[in-house]
Amino acid sequence: MSQTPSRALSTLTSRLAYEPPTIVRHQAGLMNKFSRTQSVRPLSHIDGVPVEDLLAEYGSPLFVFSQKTLQERYRELRDSFSLRFPKLRIAWSWKTNYLDGICKTFLNEGAWGEVVSEFEWEKAVALGVAPERIHFNGPYKPESALERVLPLGTIVHLDNFDELATAERVAARLGIVPKVALRLSIATDHTQTWDRFGFNLDSGQARDAVARLLGGGQLQLAGLHCHVGTFVLEPDAYRQASSKLAAFASVLREEHGVVLEFIDMGGGFASPNTLKAQYLPGEQVCPSFSRYAAAIADGLSGLRYPMREMPTLVLETGRALVDEAGYLVTSVVANKRLPDGTRALVLDGGVNLLFTSNWYKHDVLPVREHGGISEPTVMYGPLCMNIDVVREAVMFPPVRPGDAVVFRNVGAYNVTQWMQFITYRPAVVMVGDGRQHGLLRKREDLETFSSHERTPAWLTADKAHAR
Ligand SMILES: Cc1ncc(COP(=O)(O)O)c(C=O)c1O
Repeated sequence: MSQTPSRALSTLTSRLAYEPPTIVRHQAGLMNKFSRTQSVRPLSHIDGVPVEDLLAEYGSPLFVFSQKTLQERYRELRDSFSLRFPKLRIAWSWKTNYLDGICKTFLNEGAWGEVVSEFEWEKAVALGVAPERIHFNGPYKPESALERVLPLGTIVHLDNFDELATAERVAARLGIVPKVALRLSIATDHTQTWDRFGFNLDSGQARDAVARLLGGGQLQLAGLHCHVGTFVLEPDAYRQASSKLAAFASVLREEHGVVLEFIDMGGGFASPNTLKAQYLPGEQVCPSFSRYAAAIADGLSGLRYPMREMPTLVLETGRALVDEAGYLVTSVVANKRLPDGTRALVLDGGVNLLFTSNWYKHDVLPVREHGGISEPTVMYGPLCMNIDVVREAVMFPPVRPGDAVVFRNVGAYNVTQWMQFITYRPAVVMVGDGRQHGLLRKREDLETFSSHERTPAWLTADKAHAR
């Protein structure tokens, strides 16, 4: 029996989605440096688990972390450095991602902790980190915090003369001589000096700080610390900084008899993200851990220490350990055409969840294969704010409302710097061995807020608004 034309048409449309024709203007930027259009291969699974299954179980948007990648990155860092440094300590930088499950993964690998606030210290100790396995950095450590952490053996990195005096006062009051470190700021040819943190080495201030500390006799100088910056793409910055530290440490030993237990090179290694101002893609320019290790080994070779007294090298690596392990899965809410013809997508996650989209061109991929022509697409988040743009122009295939879109390399700083503005923060899950997965943090709900808000009695008395 022959079908009526309308019946035939509806059978056809249920099988093949109509794709309106598009005219794509040629413009610089469509091709990459190698004269090929950028490929947009779907990312359908994370460590063997279908992304769509995760969305169905935990909702959208969703942060997903790969335990395997966390472990692999940690082991690669440890192995690259222990080839050159027999005494090595990796102190996980809590602020980069302080979800308990992430920190626990690194603790299980043998990491110490590095914190920059009393809140982080409390969180680390609550997770089971021994206080004496914590380095405490940061420009603000209240006297009450010092009073709490110093007698427990936490290694405080002093930031300024006022803090030094406060630490001495606390130590004298408690009758202890705690181990401390001095944070130093050091200029390199490749980094902006973070001279607002610590004592400046180049100006001579660091020397004064050592003299002051030794003169006080109330604190024991156990280490020197320097963090040259973050996302440092040039390993030579570490060679320069460590070489200056080595020279300084040698003088301290020779002139003052100070034998340091550790030299802490801070964090700062890059991840394979691409900065907005960067020309080549991140994965092509991101140095390996071995290159950073070689640079630091070169710099520290100037240390005039006998072998048996060699200080431990401490690393406070943050983003390079966790960025690649993190994914943000979002869903398309709407397609739009802007007046100039640009295609736009509205997603259910934006700059509220991806703070790092302020400076990175984040890799973003569809979860399924989509036919049709890729074209430059701007991606907006759900906020009613003009600044909520997560990608300004990325070649992307046509997608529809409900389709999932994944941002890669977002594990660092986003789940600590995310903002709670007009919506709930999403769930965070980890995918582990054998395709198991579980919550690291549940999605917020009204209870998250009502448990903290209070309405003073004089406001509740007035019921004018109630029906
Ligand atoms: C003192 C200190 N240590 C470690 C880190 C971690 O740095 P990154 O994530 O760049 O490795 C930071 C970050 O700014 C820091 O300030």
